[in-house]
Formats: sequence, structure tokens, C-alpha cells
Amino acid sequence: MARDGAVYVCQSCGAVQTKWSGQCAGCGAWNTLVEETQSRPPGAMAPAKSARTRGLAFEGLQDEVLPPARIATGVDEFDRVCGGGVVPGSAILLGGDPGVGKSTLLMQVAGQAARRGVACAYISGEEAVEQVRGRAQRMGLGDAPVKLAAETSLREILEGLKREKFDLVVIDSIQTMWSDAHEAGPGSVTQVRAAAGELVRLAKKRGVAVILVGHVTKEGAIAGPRVVEHMVDAVFAFEGERGYPFRILRGAKNRFGATDEIGVFEMGDAGLAEVKNPSALFLNTSGERAAGAAVFAGIEGSRPVLVEFQALVAPSAYGTPRRAVVGWDSGRLAMVLAVLEARCGLGFGDRDVYLNVAGGLRISEPAADLAAAAALASSALDQALPQDCVVFGEISLSGEVRPVSRMDSRVKEAAKLGFRRALGPADVDTAALRITGAARLSEAIRRIGEADWG
Ligand code: TYD
Ligand code: MG
Repeated sequence: MARDGAVYVCQSCGAVQTKWSGQCAGCGAWNTLVEETQSRPPGAMAPAKSARTRGLAFEGLQDEVLPPARIATGVDEFDRVCGGGVVPGSAILLGGDPGVGKSTLLMQVAGQAARRGVACAYISGEEAVEQVRGRAQRMGLGDAPVKLAAETSLREILEGLKREKFDLVVIDSIQTMWSDAHEAGPGSVTQVRAAAGELVRLAKKRGVAVILVGHVTKEGAIAGPRVVEHMVDAVFAFEGERGYPFRILRGAKNRFGATDEIGVFEMGDAGLAEVKNPSALFLNTSGERAAGAAVFAGIEGSRPVLVEFQALVAPSAYGTPRRAVVGWDSGRLAMVLAVLEARCGLGFGDRDVYLNVAGGLRISEPAADLAAAAALASSALDQALPQDCVVFGEISLSGEVRPVSRMDSRVKEAAKLGFRRALGPADVDTAALRITGAARLSEAIRRIGEADWG
């Protein structure tokens, strides 16, 4: 039986149960329920303090709408993902693997913004002030008027932020913060939720933009309750493949901007350098294009990005053939393999398949289907694609190649980078580039196999 006021909170999804059990009824995760005391039953409201409650005042839809004010931090790639700068009074959650560069990015944002006259505070719950200062100096930000503090007590932080007026506050990280109003340990769902709640309230009440760093679990979710994601105005993910210097800032939720924008950075000795024109960054331009390689003309956010899909198809040594994919969805790979087999007679049942997106970028556009299929077929048939050819098109289960959005931008960028032809959904001759169309995947594969480019 639970003690008085004790409840069991799932550390994965935040579901509250009155009895302990091995499996969470909310999300099905095992061994995630932890006992936490609750001062009030869940959902209960505190009694009204006075008769000051006046009830709602309603407004109409026709009133003038002003775009939100924005603070340009000076880190353009960051501002772009925000939707044109940070909105005062908004709360942003920045998630990412340990070591990917979250602290580095936010110090850079705070430092650059402070230099432009934005009042910035950087509060670290993970590192000592000397460490944070040392990093900032190495990054050449020693002169930036950022106010530093190392603190984990929410009460101290809120008190400190009340005394001084800031425009932008970085909290690194939300999992290290604890409130003495709750008994649960730091990092528990209750603490993370309470700390995030208080900080978001502060943001709204005082018009301060608050950026919270959130750790990511092995599965890639931001550790702690999903409710934190609902509390904040924007959720960004900072991504990067181990061994590559490139880092991508991606919006997962944004109440003040589009979520398909990306910011591209390169990690170096002096912090993160912004990559203003990433279109050729992920492209292997040296040497001949080998069999198994296809260049995809993609769009990330508002910008075209060219990236190489690399496939290797090899006889399988074991009973169950391997399928390994980096930078693309494995479900999508299975679909493309099935369509190649069923509609084009290209079987992979007894062969290992490896598919890799070069440079550490993650592609999620359906328009990449044809590039992946072309790389796979090119490897299977041992026939290289022309050096100056890009590929794009969505593939349907029936084996059709479907048109894709923003073909103009894709073609223009490819032409700018020296490509002269494309394999796509339909024949198009532009001044810059010639698109060889294939209405069906089988036709595209035949062209690749026979090196027939019209
Ligand atoms: P950090 O920002 O501490 O990561 P996070 O806060 O996401 O855990 O970055 C850590 C990594 O970045 C570390 O492996 C070292 C590297 N780094 C550089 O390569 N150059 C730099 O100038 C800095 C500051 C860090
Ligand atoms: Mg850090």
C-alpha cells in the first residue's frame, strides 16, 4: 500500500499511478515507476486565495495581429531555426546527446547576443564557473558581457533572476535543477517538471527568453517527462554523427516559426563555426563516382542540400541477410528493397545491404527514395551513375516514381555545383540541366543498368 500522499510516477512518460507495478500502464516501459510524494492529489486545485478571480475576458478574431518581437542573437543559423530570432518571453528546450555541443552552442549564442547589447545570463548546473569561463575564452568570447553562475537550486536561481533584468537566460541543464518544494531527487520526473514549470512561468511573467538544455536518453527522447515538451514554446534537437565535425540544429516544435528549418555548424577548435551554404558540404566531390553512389538533390528547410547516398550490396555469408542503414529510415529502406524486388525483379533476399548517407546528415524527405533505389541498383548491377548526375523522386508501393516539391530549387542548386543531368520523375530540359524522366522505378533501374541516359 502506498504511504499517505505517495504516488508512483513513470520516469519515462510521466504517468502517475497509485500502486507500484513492474510495467507502466501509460507507456508500457518496464521498471520506470518511482515512488514520489505529492503534496496535493494530482489535478486538484489549491483553494482560491481571495475573491480576486474575475473570470475570463473574451476577445475577437478580427483584432490586429502583430508579429512577435525577436531578439537576433547574431548566430544566424540559430536565429533561423528560431524563426528569425528568439522571441522574448518564450521558452526553448534544446535536446541532444552528451558531448554533441549543446553547452558550446548556447555559450556562443549568449556571448554573441551579449556583445550586441542583449542582457544574457548563463547558469550551469553541470560545470563550475571556471570551466564555463575557460570554454568561453577558448572560443574567443572572453570579452562578451555574459553573466555566469553555477547553481542547481531553483529557489536561488529564481531569486537571482528576479533581482536583475535579463533578456536571455540559459539553463544548462534542466535535469540538474531541483526545487526544495519537492522531495524527489534531482533528475526525477517531478523535479524536472517542477523546475521547467517555474522557469517557463518566469519567462512569461518577466518577458525573458529562457533556453533549457535537456539531456537525451539512449532512445533519443528528451529525458524526463514529455510534459516538458508541451510546456515550452519550441523544442530543438542538436544532432551530429560521431566522427564528423558537422552539427545540425533542427526544430521539432516551434510556436513561433517553421519546424523544417535546419541550422548547420561545424565543430572546430574555437567552438562552432556557422555553415552558411551547406549545399555542397555533404558531397564527396573528389574522384570518380563509384558504383553504389547516387547524389540526392534534397531540400532541408528552405535550403537545397546535395548529399551522396552510398550503397553496398554483397552476397550474404549467413542465413539471415544484414540490413544496415545510417542517416536514413530503416523502414523506408525495407520498402524500397521490397519495391525493387516486386516491381523491378531485383532481388536482395540472399544479399547483405548497407546504405549510408555521407557526411553524417539525416535525410527524412520521401523525395530521397529514388536516390536510395538508384544507389542500391547501381551497386547490385555494378554500374556507376554518371559523375554529373543527381537523383530525386518519391517511390510508391506500386513502383511509380512520383513528382517532388520544389524541383526548381533542386535543379538550380545542382546546376550551380556543376551537375548537368538528373534522374527524376519526368523528362524536363532546363537551360542548366537535363532531367531524364522515369515514370516507373523499373524504367529508372533499366537506364542505370544499361547506362542509357537518353
Ligand atoms: P559540449 O558543448 O560540452 O557538449 P554538451 O554540452 O552537448 O554535452 O561539447 C563537448 C564537445 O565539443 C567535446 O567533445 C569537445 C568539443 N569541443 C570542440 O571540439 N571545440 C570547442 O571549441 C569546444 C568548446 C568543444
Ligand atoms: Mg554540456
